[in-house]
Amino acid sequence: MTFPAGFLWGTATASYQIEGAAREDGRGPSIWDTFSRTPGKVVGGHTGDVACDHYHRYREDVAMMAELGMRAYRFSIAWPRIQPDGSGPANPRGLDFYERLVDELHGHGITPIVTLYHWDLPQSLEDRGGWTSRETAERFAEYAAIVYGRLGDRVETWTTLNEPWCSAFLGYGAGIHAPGRTDTGAAFAAVHHLLLGHGLATAELRAAGARQVGITLNLAPISGSDPEAVAHIDGLQNRIFLDPVLRGEYPADVVERARRFTDWSFVRDGDLDLISAPVDLLGINYYSPTTVEARAGQPANPVHPGSEGIAFVQGGEEKTAMGWSVVPSGLTELLTRVARDYPGTPLVITENGAAFDDVLADGRVADERRIAFLDGHFRAAHAAIAAGADLRGYLVWSLMDNFEWAEGYGKRFGLVHVDYASQRRVPKDSALWYREVIRNNGLRA
Ligand code: FCB
Repeated sequence: MTFPAGFLWGTATASYQIEGAAREDGRGPSIWDTFSRTPGKVVGGHTGDVACDHYHRYREDVAMMAELGMRAYRFSIAWPRIQPDGSGPANPRGLDFYERLVDELHGHGITPIVTLYHWDLPQSLEDRGGWTSRETAERFAEYAAIVYGRLGDRVETWTTLNEPWCSAFLGYGAGIHAPGRTDTGAAFAAVHHLLLGHGLATAELRAAGARQVGITLNLAPISGSDPEAVAHIDGLQNRIFLDPVLRGEYPADVVERARRFTDWSFVRDGDLDLISAPVDLLGINYYSPTTVEARAGQPANPVHPGSEGIAFVQGGEEKTAMGWSVVPSGLTELLTRVARDYPGTPLVITENGAAFDDVLADGRVADERRIAFLDGHFRAAHAAIAAGADLRGYLVWSLMDNFEWAEGYGKRFGLVHVDYASQRRVPKDSALWYREVIRNNGLRA
């Protein structure tokens, strides 16, 4: 079961989840610094202050990636390292760090893939409205231009946003991610300004000469017996992002259903033209599918606006430590659907992986469930390619255990185990298995 020649295998991380060094070299506070310090928001009161200390250990971490045979590495840039308060001139020490990291990756033959925004918004911008404000989209484009100005000669592939669904609906709607606001109207404003930020940043990157620009969305196949319930959740999870970026319009049914929360007056003439400027790749993060059914009296799920009367049901499948159902076939379904409904855009899995309750014993983590998980999902991706999906790469979440947002350090997604007290890294069995997959560019049939 061989993948196409040149298929990009690697891993992904994000700045706040691994870097630590929260107050070093001029970094300003982000919404995740504030949120994680707010009692009750993150399990165990954990913060990203130290995390994996990657800011100081990036050399060892890159050497470890090379040792593990990885060909690509997706990481994110911390906006508050570049512009501590989200606007104005660049902080050169912040740019220096990412330049050193990129050079280190190239020195080991690893392709860097940059995400410009993986949720660590400068707190000052949140204080002025955050993603509910149009200004944040404009500032984001300026920030993108600054980063490109320093790294554009050595980074080929750029993605603007990671999972705007989480930023908007978890951050501004349900309040379970930073900035922790619970205002459904604000969540829709955030959706639009995030997408506008993507569009404006894409224009800046293109003008500066970028050749590979895209966005990463967390998508999920939605199924169930009630077509209205399925359309509602599919609209909010998938189409509200896919349609504006790839078709230049918000889906009419989503706009209608959301009218009780917003009048959409934040959408201005010309915005959708910016948002739908062609992308060179679509990054897809896939973890689990969603199944819904109509159920009278069911209260709304705060994560999905207007979902009264819709129940989210779990099948009997195996669950990860996050409680997420393990359904590899969902990935085939998702990739073939995107390839069919939004043809012409190359796809990359920018995240897929699983948390399990790993045990480090005698210097080894025998994580056969993670190996089985990845094996199943790689096969599912291969099936989608065989069915015609233009899938170019696969980045496993995550290189190493890290700060899992509201779950703190308790949930371990890494191919590499991290002992947070000593910062010792130990490749799990899955990392060694993955090295063979990469070496063979595939799996035994
Ligand atoms: C995704 C995030 C990533 C990580 C995984 C488990 O939603 O993009 O940072 O936390 O989930």
